[in-house]
Amino acid sequence: MKSLFASMISIGAYAPKKLLTNADLETMVDTTDEWITKRTGIKTRHIAADDQAASDLGYEAAKLAIARSGLLPSDIDLVIVATLSGDYLFMPSTAAVLAGKLGVRNIPSFDVLAACSGFIYGVATGKAFIESGMASNVLVVGTEASSRFMDYTDRSVCILFGDGAGACVLTATDDESKAIVDVKISGDGTLWDYLTIEGGSRHPVREGGEHPPFMRMKGNETFKLAVKTLSADVVEILARNNLTSEAITHFIPHQANLRIIKAVGETLKLRDDQIVLTIERFGNTSAASIPMAINELYESHKLKTGDLMLLDAFGGGLTWGSALVRFGGK
Ligand code: UT7
Repeated sequence: MKSLFASMISIGAYAPKKLLTNADLETMVDTTDEWITKRTGIKTRHIAADDQAASDLGYEAAKLAIARSGLLPSDIDLVIVATLSGDYLFMPSTAAVLAGKLGVRNIPSFDVLAACSGFIYGVATGKAFIESGMASNVLVVGTEASSRFMDYTDRSVCILFGDGAGACVLTATDDESKAIVDVKISGDGTLWDYLTIEGGSRHPVREGGEHPPFMRMKGNETFKLAVKTLSADVVEILARNNLTSEAITHFIPHQANLRIIKAVGETLKLRDDQIVLTIERFGNTSAASIPMAINELYESHKLKTGDLMLLDAFGGGLTWGSALVRFGGK
């Protein structure tokens, strides 16, 4: 019997039209374009329209990814959505809403809740389903309307995040040259309080008051741990696959902070042309940031069949992960 691998055969993304610039934020909180640019690398973020929820953004990205895969929506046999800003509070899942919008019925769909690492967790899950023979064509979507959970009086968080979505199709193949090579996911739940959004059963939304459903972050602690953890993580995934950083065609990190990306890039001694950056225009789009960045590469004709991508992400949970992916699309 031939080996069964999972291949990422297509990518798509969507960014809502409305822009939130650093100049806009200067009028909302005590901040400056200079501080934001220097400390984060962000200039603008996209913000979902009032009638757009996470599934609406994800739907646009998913349609593109499915069309580019050459498959029909009816060929998809599993929908995984990674999000921290789903349409509804826990039920139904955003994956179910998205499957409904795509018109695909009688298939499993579920959300992966791993904050900014969600897309890599989703790819890990889709890969496992394919390699075990439980699914053949998996749609993995990272989508965020996190602006809905921003406290636009908290300058330490609201300057960072933007909305958007990215999606890919994973399919079964026996061609190892187009396969996902390895995915490594991890986390540390003892540090759950580094990034939170209240409103769940600990402090239900109806209580409001002291626990509004806004994103809160221990920014500096998260920053330091992200640099340390991700630097070690990417070194480890390369080593366990007997690869060096020269083998990487594209390094596609989660776009949380330009300084984190640069620090990890320096650890691997990557050249600038290996590093994919979208943070300046999109800010931190959480689970959507990696597929949106892959889509940028694809649309600028820089992503070729067989190119080796190194993905990495770090986020609430705490969660983190990295992946080595040979692009299987055209
Ligand atoms: O995607 C999930 C994972 N997320 C991350 O990995 C993000 C991690 N964190 C970060 O990116 C950075 O920690 C931030 C960009 C959030 C903050 O940068 P920092 O260099 O860690 O700054 P800080 O929190 O240590 O704050 C330094 C100073 C403080 O003032 P004092 O106490 O030194 O007077 C803050 O009050 O900067 C102040 N500050 C600001 N000043 C102007 C914090 N936010 C702002 C702001 N504008 N927006």
